[in-house]
Amino acid sequence: MEANGRTGKEEVSLQGVPETLLWPLWNRAAEQKREDRLIDDPFSADLVDRIDYDFEANFGKPNASHAVRARVIDDALKLWLEKNPEGTVISLGEGLDSQFWRVDNGSMRWISVDVAESIEMRKRFLPAEERMESVVSSALDDLWLKNIPQGSKAFIVMAGLLMYFREEEVKELLYRIADHFRESLAMFDVIPVWFSRKSLKGMKVTKTYTAPLMPWGLNYGDYSWFDEIHPRCRIKRKMTYADPFPERMRPYSYLLAFPWLTNRLAPGIVQLEIT
Ligand SMILES: C[S@@+](CC[C@H](N)C(=O)[O-])C[C@H]1O[C@@H](n2cnc3c(N)ncnc32)[C@H](O)[C@@H]1O
Repeated sequence: MEANGRTGKEEVSLQGVPETLLWPLWNRAAEQKREDRLIDDPFSADLVDRIDYDFEANFGKPNASHAVRARVIDDALKLWLEKNPEGTVISLGEGLDSQFWRVDNGSMRWISVDVAESIEMRKRFLPAEERMESVVSSALDDLWLKNIPQGSKAFIVMAGLLMYFREEEVKELLYRIADHFRESLAMFDVIPVWFSRKSLKGMKVTKTYTAPLMPWGLNYGDYSWFDEIHPRCRIKRKMTYADPFPERMRPYSYLLAFPWLTNRLAPGIVQLEIT
């Protein structure tokens, strides 16, 4: 493990999409410092202190978006775990999310799927747990599905992942999930088309950080797209980032007064039900 002699912090070398795992980590860590925090996530705060990376220079001042996303998915997951206490949660592209510890009921099973460099970060920075398994696999490969029996029930999380794929890849992935699982839920966030286009032109988040390409976007008003993917899959819930905690998403939440703007401009969070 490399420690930086100057800062005493641990060095990391991530690039491209895997580097983006540091972005929600930064925002979750900042949330931990707030009295009115939406999530309780001491792991994230600890990791930002330990990792030698200029979070603020690259990602700018923290904002509430990733805490809102984490809180909404945590809440849905806790509800599901009440009904399925020994259920299996699968997190695709989990990065350094510490969701396991935020929702743990003591009996759930957890499968974390990510590319090699991101799983290496999890192994290096987060504790091992008996009920947690890490799988090195692209979400787009069959590898992660291979050891999960056909017809299994699961809660599948894909936070901050699908926008990095092409539309055909997203469609194919959601189809394969719907086809493989039964009586399951999948939850993820979606960026609107304008944001995807902006990323394709090279979206400078700050002077030192350009976000990777995000080829897939879908407008909030077009989410019926999800109902066409598989006969056993339908959209169960959708919300914009401003819906659950509008006071934390000002001034963006003022958009909600105008549905036609929301339908074109708003990023969303989606829950799919697979029967
Ligand atoms: C923006 S981060 C989100 C991390 C985490 N879900 C969170 O909310 O903190 C994107 C994650 O997707 C992962 N990723 C990128 N391409 C992937 C792929 N083909 N299959 C699985 N994970 C992938 C990256 O390694 C990274 O961990």
